[in-house]
Amino acid sequence: MALINKAIFPVAGLGTRFLPATKAQPKEMLPVVDKPLIQYAVEEAYAAGIRQMIFVNGRNKRAIPDHFDTAFELETELEAAGKKELLALVHSIKPDDMECIYIRQPKALGLGHAVLCAQCVVVNEPFAVLLADDLMVGKPPVLKQMVDQFSEWQASILAVQEVPAEHTKRYGIVAGSAISDRLMDLTHMVEKPNPEDAPSRLGVAGRYILTPGVFREIATQPRGVGGEIQLTDGIAALMRREKVFAFRYDGKRYDCGSKEGFLQANVELALDHPQLGASFREYLKSLEI
Ligand code: G1P
Repeated sequence: MALINKAIFPVAGLGTRFLPATKAQPKEMLPVVDKPLIQYAVEEAYAAGIRQMIFVNGRNKRAIPDHFDTAFELETELEAAGKKELLALVHSIKPDDMECIYIRQPKALGLGHAVLCAQCVVVNEPFAVLLADDLMVGKPPVLKQMVDQFSEWQASILAVQEVPAEHTKRYGIVAGSAISDRLMDLTHMVEKPNPEDAPSRLGVAGRYILTPGVFREIATQPRGVGGEIQLTDGIAALMRREKVFAFRYDGKRYDCGSKEGFLQANVELALDHPQLGASFREYLKSLEI
């Protein structure tokens, strides 16, 4: 039975919605409370049993490989100062059994193209895709819930949530027939439709488990919405050959690609933070809003 051991993190986007913060650093390095977005996504993949992390990088993204690399000077100083807890924290960013692979996306041709850039490493295995600007909080973690579904169905699975009708233009929207409370056998998928054209209100969140057959489909798609090679179009084509399921995950998604979602994630995760939570709650209460 196939296992999921590889995850693709497309991180080559320009992050223009967060300018000026993203002028010289990738949006995936923006911190929510005290951790960069990309680290939340990598930890989620690790918790789902994945050990090979494939980053599809663009220009100006050196901060991401640096974050998962050894920080020699920092570690030497922490060690000399006897700061054991901080040293352990720095080491925990990349556990010894985790491998990081970096692939360059030479042109920003879209999410489908980014995934295709990782084909040479994934080859013929099912794999996960995580979009780090969707910060997912779930127990168990959302990707783990999906990997569990995959072990049962051995088919592609997309994380979905209900979205307001006026937001269908922000998502890949799916439709199909329900086979249980949480699972749907898909027949349609459209990228960012207008509300009147949307086949449902189920929007794809940035977590996918895909079979390798999707590479061939992506490679043969014409440019889609926004002139980009869309992952959605590749998955829609895959549906004609193989089963693809939508999975209503148990958890919460913060759209950290938008300023509002990013701020919500910071507030809610700060409230949940073991050291900061209590005093931050008091602070929020003291605000006269
Ligand atoms: C991408 C996908 C879209 C999906 C969304 C989830 O869009 O193309 O299908 O619903 O991520 O966040 P983006 O947000 O990159 O425009």
